[in-house]
Amino acid sequence: MSRAKRKMDHIQHALKTGQLQQTSFEDVKFVHQSLPDRAVTDIELNTKVGELTMSSPIFINAMTGGGGQDTYEINKGLAEVAKVCKIGIAVGSQMSALKDKSESDTYKIVRKINHDGIIFANLGSEASVEQAKRAVDMLEANAMQIHLNVIQELVMPEGDRDFRGALKRIEKIVNSIPVPIIVKETGFGISKETAKKLADVGVDIIDVSGFGGTNFSKIENARRFDKLRFFNDWGITTVASIVEVKQSVYGCNIIGSGGIQDPVDIAKAISLGASAVGVAGHFLKCYMDNGQEGLLNLISKTSDELKWIMTAVGASTIEELQQVPLVIAGETYHWLTQRGID
Ligand code: FNR
Repeated sequence: MSRAKRKMDHIQHALKTGQLQQTSFEDVKFVHQSLPDRAVTDIELNTKVGELTMSSPIFINAMTGGGGQDTYEINKGLAEVAKVCKIGIAVGSQMSALKDKSESDTYKIVRKINHDGIIFANLGSEASVEQAKRAVDMLEANAMQIHLNVIQELVMPEGDRDFRGALKRIEKIVNSIPVPIIVKETGFGISKETAKKLADVGVDIIDVSGFGGTNFSKIENARRFDKLRFFNDWGITTVASIVEVKQSVYGCNIIGSGGIQDPVDIAKAISLGASAVGVAGHFLKCYMDNGQEGLLNLISKTSDELKWIMTAVGASTIEELQQVPLVIAGETYHWLTQRGID
């Protein structure tokens, strides 16, 4: 199967499989405040993620790239939405364009449209320093995402089987690339053990991309005859993962992603400790079903409603939202207790 066909296959199966809706955000409760002393007009959504300044905590997370005309059109459409909404956008893995230059326009279109926007480059942890430099240059990227996707590779018949040396390569990239490095999962969550390893080699931005939204085990299984089902419910929920990283690595900048669907999820992710929130599958589905206009409306409505939630809890800024009291119940409470995290 050609790479272009596989990319489109992933998109189609991601849309069909949909979002699991098992992020555990329902275990997290805000504590109602009757005297918040805020007006909706007071609320500011700008945020800082390490050295990065973003006008909104919401961004379009890594999805497409390197798949010919179809993915070119999707990237172009998403980049236009990101520009109008003044939100960041990550491209999908650029490895294909590093191997075959004819594919690089699929990615470059994102910068061409979005001259001044925040754009994240993206490669897997198999990347060398030289490849990371080329990926950043290709987009004049503001930051680089390095994705970890062990489970997806294992489930894919043609996937990698050797995951040695990833941390060492990440360390080299952190020490050589001039833009901030974000290490991200791809829907299975980052544990406190992994977060500590990453922090030890100098990674200070982690996108947890937890379990509960897009599920690449299910997507890959949908594409094959001999299903490998035991990875279908594998992973750390987005909620538990944000808390694991927050409580284990002091000062780490956290991006919350994995199954984010609405302003309540976004507000809860930030209250748990995230500085920004990436949305992939939910935005892709909206874009494919309702086009640019539909996605523009969704992002605008989500941003407005996030401001209402911030007003209700008495938080004028993202930093204040990170400090509001929360109660964590249910399975997440048990998970965190057993993991020695309070
Ligand atoms: C992805 N994701 C992804 N991540 C990455 O770092 N590089 C990539 O190339 C891709 N490709 C990709 C394609 C498609 C079709 C989807 C839906 C997703 C993973 C994505 O960035 C995110 O981590 C997960 O999808 C979980 O977030 P959502 O989708 O539940 O919001």
